[in-house]
Amino acid sequence: MNGPHSGLRKTVSSSRPGDAILRLEDIALHFDEGRTKAVNGIDVEVREGEFVALVGPSGCGKSSLLNIIGTLDSATGGRIYFRGQPYSTISDASLFRRQHFGFIFQSFHLIPTLSALENVIVPTIGCAGSAKALKERAQGLLSALGLQDRMGHEPGKLSGGERQRVAIARSLINDPDIILADEPTGSLDSINAAEVLDLLDGIRKENGLTVVMVTHAPEVSARADRVVHMRDGKLDTNPAEHT
Ligand SMILES: Nc1ncnc2c1ncn2[C@@H]1O[C@H](COP(=O)(O)OP(=O)(O)OP(=O)(O)O)[C@@H](O)[C@H]1O
Ligand SMILES: [Mg+2]
Repeated sequence: MNGPHSGLRKTVSSSRPGDAILRLEDIALHFDEGRTKAVNGIDVEVREGEFVALVGPSGCGKSSLLNIIGTLDSATGGRIYFRGQPYSTISDASLFRRQHFGFIFQSFHLIPTLSALENVIVPTIGCAGSAKALKERAQGLLSALGLQDRMGHEPGKLSGGERQRVAIARSLINDPDIILADEPTGSLDSINAAEVLDLLDGIRKENGLTVVMVTHAPEVSARADRVVHMRDGKLDTNPAEHT
């Protein structure tokens, strides 16, 4: 691991590439007493270090599924496992989320009144570790993402591509195992989108991260190890039929 983004990880997992990091069995998310079936019976496995693209028409349940994986939402049916541990046995979802997941969103979700550096540090609030060490780690991440001259800038003074790079640094601050990205290039022009994708893919490969990325962009899914198609809350095993 000698590339520009190596050394971002504090710890090395004992899991090996090829093991399942996530297993979803018959996962459902129903609203309005079952009248809305955002997710309606998904079985899927994600392997350690895999880059999975999640694609499908608007409203088919992609964000809902990502939120269930990231414990931002609770499934109304089915079972889900992280390295064999059932989510049903997780006692502190917020701690579990901070330990294992990094999130990246289409619209960045940065706090406008905080500097780039402060935004990166936000997910560490309440975590163990000295403030100085966390600040240095955040600075290291921002520098690795080419933002060494932008650390004091508030999001309003950054370009879209720079904002998303701050969000990438923020997603990495707690040394996650999995990055969950919901259309991370959706608000960017093609040059910035390609740059953000290159950065994410480089970080993933050099640090053994798993990435699950919702995308509408064919050039993004073309880079993935595997494309999972959804339709009407289910896996679409024959997507060609619907294009
Ligand atoms: N809190 C909620 N209450 C009721 N229905 C919801 C709720 N959240 C999502 N839905 C519905 O669930 C379905 C799936 O929504 P979701 O946001 O997961 O779709 P998506 O595939 O991410 O779409 P897009 O590509 O437009 O982002 C939609 O029909 C949506 O209206
Ligand atoms: Mg969505």
